[in-house]
Amino acid sequence: MTTALVTGASAGLGTEFTRQLAAAGHDVVLVARDAERLAALADELHRDHGVRTEVLPADLVAQDGLAAVRARIEQDEDPVTVLVNNAGYGILTDFIDTPVADEQRMLRLLVEVPLVLGHTAIRAMATRGGGHVVNVSSVAGFIPRGSYGAAKAWLISFSRWANVRYRPRGVVVTAVCPGLVHTEFHRRMELDTRNIPGFAWLDAPRVVREALAGAFDGRAVVVPSKRYRVVVAASRVLPDRLMAAAGRLGR
Ligand SMILES: NC(=O)c1ccc[n+]([C@@H]2O[C@H](COP(=O)([O-])OP(=O)(O)OC[C@H]3O[C@@H](n4cnc5c(N)ncnc54)[C@H](OP(=O)(O)O)[C@@H]3O)[C@@H](O)[C@H]2O)c1
Repeated sequence: MTTALVTGASAGLGTEFTRQLAAAGHDVVLVARDAERLAALADELHRDHGVRTEVLPADLVAQDGLAAVRARIEQDEDPVTVLVNNAGYGILTDFIDTPVADEQRMLRLLVEVPLVLGHTAIRAMATRGGGHVVNVSSVAGFIPRGSYGAAKAWLISFSRWANVRYRPRGVVVTAVCPGLVHTEFHRRMELDTRNIPGFAWLDAPRVVREALAGAFDGRAVVVPSKRYRVVVAASRVLPDRLMAAAGRLGR
């Protein structure tokens, strides 16, 4: 049997990852802070797909929450074979107007948490003969977009390296880099999205379908949708000066 542990499973892309993984027959471990939402999702997944579900409510920014998830990944019984590092959020206020403690908290969730859980998982999976680590990054990781984009860039660089390094030991590490996706992300950061054109938006099911296909195909980086692959390709050939100018458009 295979077991997938998904962080940020209570909403958005995380919920969709659990739905598609359960539909494909994986047992699932659901991690986020909102225990009620996780319990409702666990019932739905068990009912619809007959898989075994576990609810692991945890605030990943808190030491005890992170330790509990690490312990589940290290557990040899019903071992985690797929880790999806997905939990995350953005900050809307300008960098210098944001208390540095808030920046550190976001950096912890976007970088330190996937580093710690990735370290635990890659180690355990390499010992057990293989597995998958999916790191949800962003197109923002290719373009200067404040501290959020810088954090997502870390995840891309790390995943590229880890994929090459640990594939020979059966562990595939994949960075998934979506553009704008309809989830709770923008509402939670109180961003007014009314001026963003419709073509810029992707739906979570499509993003997750491409993400999982790429990960199970062994890819290091997946950019869902042709339109965002064009954006990423352009970011690689356009002069740094021009790309940095994009950062003036906002956070
Ligand atoms: N939506 C986009 O346009 C977009 C684009 C590119 C990349 N992404 C990335 O995609 C990932 C998922 O975001 P989303 O769009 O699905 O956003 P979302 O709908 O707001 O979901 C975020 C998830 O993260 C969880 N979470 C937040 N803080 C947490 C904490 N301290 N501990 C544990 N769980 C926590 C939330 O659950 P609880 O509140 O229950 O804890 C929720 O399940 C993020 O890494 C984001 O950066 C999103």
